[in-house]
Amino acid sequence: MLLTIASTTTLNNGIAMPLFGLGTFRMGDEADMRRAIDTALDCGYRLFDTASAYQNEEEVGAALRANGIDRRELFITTKAWTDELGVAETREACEGSLRRLQMEYVDLYLIHWPAKGRWPAAWQAMTDLLADGKCRAIGVSNFTIKHLEELATLSPIAPAVNQVEFSPFRYDAALLQYCRDHDIQLESYSPLTRGAKIDHPVLLDIARRHVKTPAQVLLRWQLELGVVVIPKASSPRHIRENADIFDYSLSTDEVAALCALNEEYSIVNPEWRAQFEYPGALSKNFRQPH
Ligand SMILES: NC(=O)c1ccc[n+]([C@@H]2O[C@H](COP(=O)([O-])OP(=O)(O)OC[C@H]3O[C@@H](n4cnc5c(N)ncnc54)[C@H](OP(=O)(O)O)[C@@H]3O)[C@@H](O)[C@H]2O)c1
Repeated sequence: MLLTIASTTTLNNGIAMPLFGLGTFRMGDEADMRRAIDTALDCGYRLFDTASAYQNEEEVGAALRANGIDRRELFITTKAWTDELGVAETREACEGSLRRLQMEYVDLYLIHWPAKGRWPAAWQAMTDLLADGKCRAIGVSNFTIKHLEELATLSPIAPAVNQVEFSPFRYDAALLQYCRDHDIQLESYSPLTRGAKIDHPVLLDIARRHVKTPAQVLLRWQLELGVVVIPKASSPRHIRENADIFDYSLSTDEVAALCALNEEYSIVNPEWRAQFEYPGALSKNFRQPH
């Protein structure tokens, strides 16, 4: 697959989204953010992922503005937190995010977590925000197949993106297939397992074969599956290393070997995740073969 750092996927409403970008959760102070965004822009990153919950939208916006880059070249994602879900709340939250980012619009606005009883009204607000041009696309995060099925019964507007924790160690084949079948772009967060699984022998072996690092193998695996990926890195060395994945590819066998590493691993506290899930939904998804 011939891809570059500028490669995009076309979302279900026709807009282009980069396949690769920078996560910004826990980036550090203002100077760290500035250094990370300067380095990332220099490497060719154009997608930046933030959220009101990260409390860094001001810093992200300021660092991007300081670079003088044309806004239209960027793809900015932000998210509405669980206490920002509701018809009035979500509109207000989006306006707050835009104020902090000092932007007229975001490219993608997401429901951060499907808080029970609250996300359907938030989705209504998001479709209005889309119509008003406050965002170019709307989507969801941490939605399971059941949430997506319920959403499809509630609204004629399907999410453009579902951002979920996704890696070889958390490979939800059924969710990936559902999203492909319904023209919802899957986007991976915590693609590096925050470093927890970076020394796995299968990963090390594939990395050695390609003279790449385990992080570069984890990221390329996402691209081979057509999943958008947003590794977070604050160190300039990591930011550059993560972007250096467009000069090689993984074989079908290597992709399958990585998919076989699934162990439903998660960086998210299980009690936190459980409050959003329908009973039994998660393990049922994971039992599907890749
Ligand atoms: N929607 C959601 O609920 C949700 C949840 C979590 C995250 N996210 C988004 O997804 C982004 C990425 O996920 P994440 O931050 O949880 O975890 P991640 O990207 O899996 O891992 C980030 C960690 O990996 C390190 N790292 C980066 N590149 C590396 C490399 N080449 N080699 C070794 N270590 C490397 C970073 O170190 P340094 O920083 O020191 O470079 C940092 O400690 C977030 O920043 C956020 O934007 C969304």
